[in-house]
Amino acid sequence: MIILGIETSCDETAAAVVRNGLDILSSEVATQHEFHGPFMGVVPELASRAHVMKVNRVIERALKAARIKAGKLDAIAVTVGPGLAGALLVGRMAAEALGWAHDVPVYGANHIEGHLLSAALADRRLVPPFLGLVVSGGHTELILARNWGDYRLLGRTRDDAAGEAFDKVAKMMGLGYPGGPIIDRLAKRGDASKSPLPKPWVNGTWDFSFSGLKTAVLYKLRTKKSWTAAEKRDICAGFQRSVVDVLVGKAIAAAQLLGLRHIALGGGVAANSLLRSELERAAVLKGLAVTVPSLALCTDNAAMIAASVHFKLKNRPALVPGQLKIDPQLHIPFIEALAAGPVFSASRR
Ligand code: KG4
Ligand code: ZN
Repeated sequence: MIILGIETSCDETAAAVVRNGLDILSSEVATQHEFHGPFMGVVPELASRAHVMKVNRVIERALKAARIKAGKLDAIAVTVGPGLAGALLVGRMAAEALGWAHDVPVYGANHIEGHLLSAALADRRLVPPFLGLVVSGGHTELILARNWGDYRLLGRTRDDAAGEAFDKVAKMMGLGYPGGPIIDRLAKRGDASKSPLPKPWVNGTWDFSFSGLKTAVLYKLRTKKSWTAAEKRDICAGFQRSVVDVLVGKAIAAAQLLGLRHIALGGGVAANSLLRSELERAAVLKGLAVTVPSLALCTDNAAMIAASVHFKLKNRPALVPGQLKIDPQLHIPFIEALAAGPVFSASRR
């Protein structure tokens, strides 16, 4: 089965062709950093317009690189949520127009499920059940993957997503956009112990909260008029250390509680070098396997969208394509029974 994936939920216009759910024949991504950079964050209206300008060309490039004609596709998969309403609509219209013109069925995909399935694209050993940690600019979610297409949410951020916190802290420090990769680079030469910051454990739940940590950085920055480059690197390292410790601590605790042997990391923040290395280190200590996809699969892409529809169709071959409904708040069902998460001591490193 050959599926064209289309992804336009935020600030990346992407299209990819995937064979049998796992073979990526092509994957094209056009970023919009040039439009959002001056505003140090994604401007929804600009994102929609940029998608309109780019989407058809990106789709053409993906089909050409995969050497396939649109009429030969078995299905088209398009992200229908969560994401920015206008941006999602552009992808949906492009997918439906192509499907209508070439008589190819079009299916909706959940962006978060896509990030989870990036790990499956990266590692064929990954089989459910497993624990998913999806950390991006818009989401921070701990997910129990019971089977392909059968997911339950354990916890999510109550305010800022981890990537959003990275971007906002970088903006406060005047470092540039997107902030995650910049903080990651500066933190490598910084010393977290010289700039310790609170670790928001949000005890007794699997949820996360990063806005207080962001405010702690703001208050710290206000204590002096100017900061040397070395001090800024220490702040970056302290901030990054707090985010990573909480993400890793909760993911490992959840895997252990649920008896899951494999953790899959996904989302743009999964590109963070400390998160990647610390999750792998902690998992090895507990005898758990970890899949950390390549950087290209961590950030928004359309191969993950095609893969998620492939797995959905595999489990439910009778799935009807039908009218697609955009849902900017689309979410994975929450497990009430597991709402109570672990309690970490404040002193925990
Ligand atoms: O998944 P993604 O490409 O888009 C969303 O769905 O949001 O994630 C983008 C986010 C941005 O907030 C960006 O700053 C962050 O991922 N990011 C990083 C790194 N690379 C990208 N955060 C921390 N460290 C990185 N190396
Ligand atoms: Zn994403």
